[in-house]
Amino acid sequence: MSIYLDNAATSFPKPEQVYQAVIHAMREVGGSPGRGGHRRSLEASRIMFMARETVAELFSIPDSSRIIFTHSATGALNLALHGTLKAGDHVITTSMEHNSLLRPLHALSRKGVEVSVVRAGTEGIVDPDHICRAVQSNTRMIAVGHVSNVCGSIQPIKQIATICHAVGALFLVDAAQSAGYIDIDVISSGIDMMAAPGHKGLLGPPGTGLLYVAPHVALRPIMEGGTGTSSTSEEQPLTMPDGFEAGTHNLPGIAGLKAGIEFILERGIDTIFRHEQSLINEAERLLSRIPGLTVYGPTAPQRRAAVLSFNVAGIDAALLAAELDHDFDIAVRAGLHCAPQAHRTIGTLPGGTLRLSPGWSTTREEIAFFSGAVIQCINKLKESL
Ligand code: ALA
Repeated sequence: MSIYLDNAATSFPKPEQVYQAVIHAMREVGGSPGRGGHRRSLEASRIMFMARETVAELFSIPDSSRIIFTHSATGALNLALHGTLKAGDHVITTSMEHNSLLRPLHALSRKGVEVSVVRAGTEGIVDPDHICRAVQSNTRMIAVGHVSNVCGSIQPIKQIATICHAVGALFLVDAAQSAGYIDIDVISSGIDMMAAPGHKGLLGPPGTGLLYVAPHVALRPIMEGGTGTSSTSEEQPLTMPDGFEAGTHNLPGIAGLKAGIEFILERGIDTIFRHEQSLINEAERLLSRIPGLTVYGPTAPQRRAAVLSFNVAGIDAALLAAELDHDFDIAVRAGLHCAPQAHRTIGTLPGGTLRLSPGWSTTREEIAFFSGAVIQCINKLKESL
């Protein structure tokens, strides 16, 4: 039995229709969207448009032209941050963020952008009052990860959005671990910009991502090049979405992403969320038999998404993950998960944690097998000490 429990890194397997859509785009369509008047290019453009419409349906976005396709959530976050902030602006973020948000903010801080990092509690949840207290007269943006990739904590984004709008700041949500897992309505959630990967919860191929930008946000492109539009102008067009998608699109990836989202819409995002949450709760119940086990993140299950991080006293998480891979062909991720400040917050720096993240196709039997395998690996590692 081969068990994949690393869906927080990238989802696997994808629904069959995702593989079929990628192959169809490569073998049968073959044209470049917006780059020709022939039927292959027109069919490619149609797929792109329908993909945008599918994204819009999932997140209740009224106008699909407000969705920019990127190569990843990292690309989307870089565009949102570098495309809006300037020297003298102040940004508030949290200590639970991934490097995909922290590193561009660090780079911007060298260019005169002021950054405040609000520390979350030890369960990985940030208190909106603490965000409120960090607000300054020049606060231009609050940027928050919806769900922690380290411990699954769900941030109270609606409360944070209320603060944001009361002070006239933009609300940027990093939905890397929530898009496709948790139902998100960008309008009722008060989101001004939202970055998401295509290859995690949205079940698309790697090399896909997106940025939603509300109509009132003035975004600057951070990359110039051919767009298939306004070709006589030397200036990068500012029209949405083409001005922000310079270069040839990843049509096979976006076709696969469209198929992944269609699968989510068919199955129902609440069904997927309940399935994954029940697997996490079951894993926690089974693992709790292990002496010396510490589980991190929210104690209230409803405040946690489908990510579970733990350690066992005296056992190196990286060694345990390697044993699970080697002896049982079980894929989990150990270490810092590119989010060192989150580990500092929950008290697991420098060693990190062992993280499991089930997906839509994970079964209760696999979770039971995983728990048994963890116990066997721990016994083996203890014997070798
Ligand atoms: N951010 C991804 C993870 O948490 C890659 O594993």
